[in-house]
Amino acid sequence: MTRKILVLPGDGIGPEITAQASRVLAACQAQGLDVEVEEAPVGGAAYDAEGSPLPESTLARARAADAVLLGAVGGPKWDKLEDISKRPEKGLLGLRKELGLFGNLRPALLYPQLAEASSLKPELVAGLDIMIVRELTGGIYFGQPRGIEERDGQRVGYNTYVYSEAEIERIGRMAFEMAQKRGKKLCSVDKANVLEVTMLWREVMERLAPEYPDVELSHMYVDNAAMQLVRAPKQFDVVVTGNMFGDILSDAAAMLTGSIGMLPSASLNESGQGMYEPCHGSAPDIAGQGLANPLATILSVAMMLRYSLGEPALAERIEAAVGKVLDEGLRTADIAAEGERAVSTTEMGDAVLAAFEAL
Ligand code: NAD
Ligand code: IPM
Ligand code: MN
Repeated sequence: MTRKILVLPGDGIGPEITAQASRVLAACQAQGLDVEVEEAPVGGAAYDAEGSPLPESTLARARAADAVLLGAVGGPKWDKLEDISKRPEKGLLGLRKELGLFGNLRPALLYPQLAEASSLKPELVAGLDIMIVRELTGGIYFGQPRGIEERDGQRVGYNTYVYSEAEIERIGRMAFEMAQKRGKKLCSVDKANVLEVTMLWREVMERLAPEYPDVELSHMYVDNAAMQLVRAPKQFDVVVTGNMFGDILSDAAAMLTGSIGMLPSASLNESGQGMYEPCHGSAPDIAGQGLANPLATILSVAMMLRYSLGEPALAERIEAAVGKVLDEGLRTADIAAEGERAVSTTEMGDAVLAAFEAL
C-alpha cells in the first residue's frame, strides 16, 4: 500500500534543509519505496499565508500521513507576536500534542570522521552513542495553569510542571525497551531533590525496573547530568527525561557530535506514527545563504524509514551514504575545521545523493 509522507518545511533554514532531505526521499522512491510525498505550510510561513502557525488543513494532512518530516519553525519576525497562540513554535507544539507524539528519540552519535569537530577532546567522544528519550507532550511545556497576569500590582508569569503516573510510565517503558535493544543501561534524569513531580518520576521508573531485569537503571539530577555530559559523555547509553530537561540536554549532547546540524530526531505516538525533524531550529542567523548543514534532516529521513516505514535497509543505506561523504572530507561550515573549504547545503545534498546511488 502506498504510504503518505507530509513534508513541512517551515521557516528560516527549514526549506533549505527539507529540500535536500526530499531529494533523498525521492532517491528512495526510485529504489522502490512506495510513498506519496506532499508538502504543507507550518510555523511562521503558515501564519503569514493563512493567519495560523498550524492551519486546520495542515493538521488534517498530518493526521492522515504515515509520517511527517519537519524542517524547523520560528524566527525574529514572529517573536513579538502579541497573541502567543500564533507564534510559530505553537505550530510545532500543536502538532506534537495533536498527534500524541509523546516519545522523542534524539540519538547523539559521533561519526568517527567528526571527532575533531567536537567541542570535546577526541578521546572523550570517540565511539559516542547516546540515545536521549525525551518526553514530548507533557511536563512544563503543557502544564496548566499557565500565563502572565497581574498580582499585587505587578505582572507575574507562571507555568506548571506536571506529570501523571501514566505519562511517566509510558515514556519509561519506551526508554527501558530502547535500552534493551542497545547497551542495557538507562539513566533517568530528574530533579527529585527539589521537585515533587520528579520525585514521582523517579518512583515510577523504580517501579518499572523489575520488569526489565536486563537493564541497569540509574538516576541522576539534571544539573549533574549536564556536567557529566561534557565531562565523560561515554558513561551514558540511554537517557530518559522530561520535556524541558530533554530539550536542554539534547542540544548539549548534539555539540559533542560536532554540530547541532548533525542531530536527527523521531517523535513517536502509540500507534507508530511519527514526526521526524532535526533537533536544531530555524537558524535565522544563516538562513537563505546556503550555509545550513542538511545532514540532521537527511538522517531524520533515515529514522523515518526505520521507525515508521519499516525499511531498515534503506535507513542504513542513507546513514552509510552520510558516512561516505564525511569520509570524502565534505563539510558544511558548522563541521569544517578552520581554514578548510566548506560546501554549501545543496553541495552536501548532491554528495549524499551520489553516495546513496553508488552504494
Ligand atoms: P537554532 O538551533 O536555530 O540555532 C542555534 C545555532 O546553531 C545558530 O548559530 C545556528 O546558525 C546554528 N545551527 C542550527 N542548525 C544548523 C544547521 N543545520 N547547520 C548549521 N548551523 C546550524 O536555535 P536558536 O537560534 O535558539 O533558535 C532560532 C529559532 O528556531 C527560534 O525561533 C526558535 O524558537 C526556533 N527553534 C525551532 C526548533 C524546531 O523547529 N524544532 C528548534 C529549536 C529552535
Ligand atoms: C526543539 C525546540 C522546540 C522545543 C521549540 C521550538 C518549541 O527547541 O524541538 O528542540 O523546545 O521542543
Ligand atoms: Mn530545542
